[in-house]
Amino acid sequence: MNYKKFASMRGALMSKIYINGGKTLKGEITAHGAKNSVLPILAATLLCGGISVIHNCPRISDVDVSLKILNHLGCRCTQENNTICIDASNIINNDIPDNLMREMRSSVVFLGAIAGRTGSAKISSPGGCELGPRPIDLHLMALNKLGFNIFEDHGYIYCDKTKRPNNPVINLNFPSVGATENCMLAAALIPGKTIIHNAAREPEIVDLANFLNSAGASICGAGLDTIIIYGKEKLYPSEHTVIPDRIAVSTYMAAAVATGGELTVNSVNPNDLLAVLNVFEQAGANLTLYSDRISIKSPKKMKFIPTIKTQVYPGFPTDAGPPIIAMLLKSSGTSVFIENIFQNRFKYVDELKRLGANIKTYGNLAVIEGNSKLTGAAVECTDLRGGAALVVAALASEGETEIGKINHILRGYENIEDYLLSIGANIVRK
Ligand code: UD1
Repeated sequence: MNYKKFASMRGALMSKIYINGGKTLKGEITAHGAKNSVLPILAATLLCGGISVIHNCPRISDVDVSLKILNHLGCRCTQENNTICIDASNIINNDIPDNLMREMRSSVVFLGAIAGRTGSAKISSPGGCELGPRPIDLHLMALNKLGFNIFEDHGYIYCDKTKRPNNPVINLNFPSVGATENCMLAAALIPGKTIIHNAAREPEIVDLANFLNSAGASICGAGLDTIIIYGKEKLYPSEHTVIPDRIAVSTYMAAAVATGGELTVNSVNPNDLLAVLNVFEQAGANLTLYSDRISIKSPKKMKFIPTIKTQVYPGFPTDAGPPIIAMLLKSSGTSVFIENIFQNRFKYVDELKRLGANIKTYGNLAVIEGNSKLTGAAVECTDLRGGAALVVAALASEGETEIGKINHILRGYENIEDYLLSIGANIVRK
């Protein structure tokens, strides 16, 4: 590795965010593209050959890792502002190196795309992550039904096409987002009909289907629980604009309400956010919805929320939980939050406590006491959305908070400090 590259990596790892809290956030922002859409869509460009052009790609480190994977596979990628061109004419590898798998667990979504394009794939097992164990049994079951033989050896997963399946039907026993995406990606180049029952319904699934359809695939039912894929012999390069990031939007809205402020978010699809908007409404916020814009005004005193439960879409999204929990620390009473999607999502709560948060956790349940007096402290991110919770709480705290291990935050928020600076936060990254 050359020294310059090492120094810049080290710089990213060592930099911290400093927030002088207690400022009321006010203003207008424009949502960036969705992390959870851009990653499977970048993987999907592999299936298209030629040069695909993807607009509204967020400048986040998970996208950087995806581009490293595409480069390793033989693609030529260029990036200008938020547009990425991927030339997938020549694929020279069919594996994802262990270091890249470790950098980004969601690299697993490349499995279906690589296998679909080349007929075989090798990835290292993604293992556990900061949210607890994250098995990929459903991904592998689906690929197996699509005619791929799967075997594991010394921490690697091998996936080889052995037969042409006869109109496979895949029943997911849980509507896993990643398994649904991998299945769509692999099936898009298998001529014939594939049915996915109990598919994930998230907006990012619809975005992936729209991209694949624009490339010549024929996918019906995305957004519903049964998806039908009529696979094609060939797909073609295409151009696509990634949908707005509903979780980043939820985070900035939570920050505005936590500080008693008001915010307008442009370029957003309110319909994708209904469960989160419902929570803001229960907290007493005043919402005005337009076709592609949301305005939110904080209540005089934020109400507590008796129960919030995370669910698959269209329920309340697990990823919006941490920033909303941080916001509720400033509410008028006791809120209860039940996490139903991931086993171990409350690691960041110990860091929130350093700021004075009064939160107790019991397994997958958190009890959040409002009226917390939050004061600045040194904290560290434990994961991406936990990091976002620390930012929201720091903005609502008196005094300075130093947030370390922000590499987690940079995975999913584009220029977070610039966004917050533009609406009145006292924040610096150095
Ligand atoms: C995606 C999102 C992530 C979000 C999550 C749930 C991306 C890149 N990430 O993750 O931000 O929090 O959806 O909305 O889009 N499971 C299994 N076996 C499997 C697959 C999943 O048991 O084969 C379990 C997981 O352990 C977890 C649950 O299903 O408990 C949900 O996982 P899944 O929907 O697959 O989430 P991801 O696709 O990993």
